Amino acid sequence: MKKDIGIAIVGHGFMGHEHEKMLLDFPGIKLIGFSDIDPKQLEDVTEGLKRYASNEELMADPEVDVVLIAANNKFHKDLVIQAANAKKDIICEKPIAMSLEELDEMEAAVKANGVKFTIHHQRRFDPDFRTAKAVYDSGTLGDIYCVKSMLYGFNGNMHDWHVFISEGGGMLYDWGVHLLDQLCWMFPGAKLTSVFADIRNVINKEVDDYFQIMMRFDNGVTATLELGTYFLTDKMHDKWFERHWFIGGNQGSAYIDGFGPEGKIVRTDGLLKNVGGQRTMTAAGPTRSFGPPPEGKILTEDLPEVNTNHRNYFENYVKAWHGEEEFLVKIPETRRVLRLMDAVRESGRTGKSIDFE
Ligand SMILES: NC(=O)c1ccc[n+]([C@@H]2O[C@H](COP(=O)([O-])OP(=O)(O)OC[C@H]3O[C@@H](n4cnc5c(N)ncnc54)[C@H](O)[C@@H]3O)[C@@H](O)[C@H]2O)c1
Repeated sequence: MKKDIGIAIVGHGFMGHEHEKMLLDFPGIKLIGFSDIDPKQLEDVTEGLKRYASNEELMADPEVDVVLIAANNKFHKDLVIQAANAKKDIICEKPIAMSLEELDEMEAAVKANGVKFTIHHQRRFDPDFRTAKAVYDSGTLGDIYCVKSMLYGFNGNMHDWHVFISEGGGMLYDWGVHLLDQLCWMFPGAKLTSVFADIRNVINKEVDDYFQIMMRFDNGVTATLELGTYFLTDKMHDKWFERHWFIGGNQGSAYIDGFGPEGKIVRTDGLLKNVGGQRTMTAAGPTRSFGPPPEGKILTEDLPEVNTNHRNYFENYVKAWHGEEEFLVKIPETRRVLRLMDAVRESGRTGKSIDFE
């Protein structure tokens, strides 16, 4: 019988609690305990789990096979190196590091100690993303020219350490890293040739809370990512403040709204039957290309069904730890996303497009 993997977690904050809920009763995993630099954070650790007096004590525990690092971004580097030197395997929260130089040091320690190292990019299993990926992979839209990934919120103020640049705060490090990871992972083998970005602090003093990033891939897709934390409207449908995707191809489009995705694949009768443009009268005058389509011209099909959730991340982890499959999230992929975030910042600063690959 395979052994249960002993996992201990550094940091019992927002994400530490989420991991606790997920891993308390997870097949193949034995959750062992938590450390936290703030002892108050350990007060509500589940009865029966260990509350370590220090990170050192956690890393020295022979029951622990894997250290899961769920502390603030600026500590990822030191904690990964410490865990590697303690010969523990490592899962680190995103973003993997605050810079490529930090990642170099982390990888050197991981390599020197021969431990397993991966990153918690569980949003590769988000149902909205997997639906978009399934549409792309199916080829049903023909040649895809655009993929738009959007996330809007109303509560633009960032909180706690997320308001400080020095702590690794800001939305690019927070959600941005997930959304970029999704787009990079969506088109395997495609080169990302150039990046153009606008990145701003709309209502936050120090850190970014809005960005638009345009990425050209050599598979013909231009992907656009827009995230606004303070993107207000009062006439939204009930999924407005959630996720949105639009995928455009030469055989149709798809739209996907919401974290629990709703949407359609859309085609036009006109295109399919090669019917010429019709005159439509709008409040801004007549047009043959725009305005509402006549009855019956828009045909819809259901989106592909996907069945994924964040538990799938740890299901993969357990199998991969035992050598039965590969870890889904590979370090070179996260290095590429870290490089991409540097390019995004450079483009935002200079106003210029950046050649990437
Ligand atoms: N994958 C995801 O979806 C997701 C979601 C949220 C946060 N995160 C990541 O999780 C990490 C934690 O974020 P959070 O929102 O939970 O923050 P948080 O502030 O809520 O929790 C961090 C906890 O770590 C503790 N801590 C800080 N430095 C430490 C150290 N050196 N040693 C031990 N404990 C330490 C803090 O006291 C706090 O209890 C970040 O890297 C963040 O990017 C990931």
